[in-house]
Amino acid sequence: MTFQARPEQGHFITFEGGEGVGKSTQLARLAEHLRDCGLEVATTREPGGTPKAEKLRRFLLSGRAAPLGALAEAVLFSAARADHVETLIAPVLKRGGWVLCDRFADSTRAYQGAQGGVDARTLALLERAAVGDTRPDLTIILDLPAREGLARAAARRNSGEALDRFERETPAFHEALRQAFLDIAESEPERCCVIDAARSVDDVARAVRAIVHDRFLAHAAQAAQ
Ligand code: TYD
Repeated sequence: MTFQARPEQGHFITFEGGEGVGKSTQLARLAEHLRDCGLEVATTREPGGTPKAEKLRRFLLSGRAAPLGALAEAVLFSAARADHVETLIAPVLKRGGWVLCDRFADSTRAYQGAQGGVDARTLALLERAAVGDTRPDLTIILDLPAREGLARAAARRNSGEALDRFERETPAFHEALRQAFLDIAESEPERCCVIDAARSVDDVARAVRAIVHDRFLAHAAQAAQ
């Protein structure tokens, strides 16, 4: 299996998918497992992960950037990502650690692209500027019918808590989003793995662990022999 060459040597795994698919839970489960294996693991999220990026997160999720248009939002998500990569992700990878990130550039492709406002070429240029060569080795796409994900997200929300800018979008938008993630997986099968997220948390966690062992840890064990 070939992976994109990256200057850093660590392992970079991203979790992607629509609303309520269980990314955060699965990311935490994998982090716990890898730490139990004695590995250095940094967990982070997008938008956010650094003080500057968290400021942009608050602005973006409040919906205050929405009137500026999808391109402006894509630029702001990318600006947050550039800082995140430079100050958090790349340094951990450089010292050989693992980075598990809840959403990354595929979310911009899917959300800002699926919204129809921003074409794929522009998104690719923004991605290149923000990410450089620090691309994920593996992207786990958790897949769930949009209606089910939205219902799960609604169930975990505290009563009275407002929907964020993207949760307020129509069910049709969220279905388009699901398809956009599946299309990304199909176009980059070496990097992306789609997991059926309708199963129990334990079953999904087992599937995630199996993929990670297969891709990385089995190789390391063989190399050590
Ligand atoms: P968050 O509360 O982290 O949502 P979730 O639990 O679904 O991950 O909010 C992040 C929101 O921002 C989510 O609706 C997806 C959206 N988003 C984009 O539109 N573009 C992006 O590039 C990223 C990283 C997130």
